[in-house]
Amino acid sequence: MTDQPLTVAKAQIDEARADKAKRPSIAGFFDEATNTVSYVVHDPATGQTAIIDSVLDYEAASGRTSNGSADRIIEYVRANELKVAWLLETHAHADHLSAAPYLQEQLGGKLGIGRDIIRVQDVFGKIFNAGSDFERDGSQFDRLFDDGDSFALGELEVIVLHVPGHTPADMAFIIGDAAFVGDTIFMPDFGTARADFPGGDAGQLYRSIRRLLELPDETRLFLCHDYKAPGRDEYAWETTVGQQREENVHVKDGTTEEEFVAMRTDRDKTLAMPKLILPSVQVNIRAGHLPEPEENGVSYIKIPVNAL
Ligand SMILES: [Fe+2]
Repeated sequence: MTDQPLTVAKAQIDEARADKAKRPSIAGFFDEATNTVSYVVHDPATGQTAIIDSVLDYEAASGRTSNGSADRIIEYVRANELKVAWLLETHAHADHLSAAPYLQEQLGGKLGIGRDIIRVQDVFGKIFNAGSDFERDGSQFDRLFDDGDSFALGELEVIVLHVPGHTPADMAFIIGDAAFVGDTIFMPDFGTARADFPGGDAGQLYRSIRRLLELPDETRLFLCHDYKAPGRDEYAWETTVGQQREENVHVKDGTTEEEFVAMRTDRDKTLAMPKLILPSVQVNIRAGHLPEPEENGVSYIKIPVNAL
């Protein structure tokens, strides 16, 4: 992991703060069923848009999907006459299904995720005993990002940072003065993401978070989840680097890696698996597509018994 992309990202954030035209417009869409925040981010000059971490609604008891959450995003995109260029995933989520294929069909755009999704596909391909028709090379996505990659969103630049630890493939997207940090850090009063999924690593998560917290203090951070917190009864998903460094209950300035790993490891032992982990992972490692239908035309989601 080189320091170069972070230096570039710092310069971009400083420039965007000085020049308001380089600040993206951001709308957050909160899904209370999975505590997930999806973002629609656009360049005010051109209307070029990225949708980050969309949600496909899924009713576990009946195995039914629906598009209410995604349709709210589509309505917003159409009402504002935005042009969707990218559908981005910060990682393969374990708590909700991605609506990226549905949004792509309705709005267009290219689907991108971190290159290490290949490792996630390999691990979960084995856990779910997926057949040889399940490609484990990331080819279900249009683009696989590496640390330090950048691409244009209209007149804005998106810089991609690899921030593993919650899963091996987590990426953060820096757009103007904003950073979309996925499941790394949460609101300062809630702390950080878990690191106990297959391929997760608490020490690596600490180092990824500290790397993000080297960005300028005023950097706007947009989080993928919120669960409220003791003493806070409203959902919240936007904070700043400065606020995190001062107040984050798990990793503020002064917290050592050793302290963090001990805390994270103890806490993760108390957490139940997310309710939708089995359907979410099976769908999300396929870039949000359901498994191939069987000969009766129905897609099935597997439950590996006593395997996780
Ligand atoms: Fe996650």
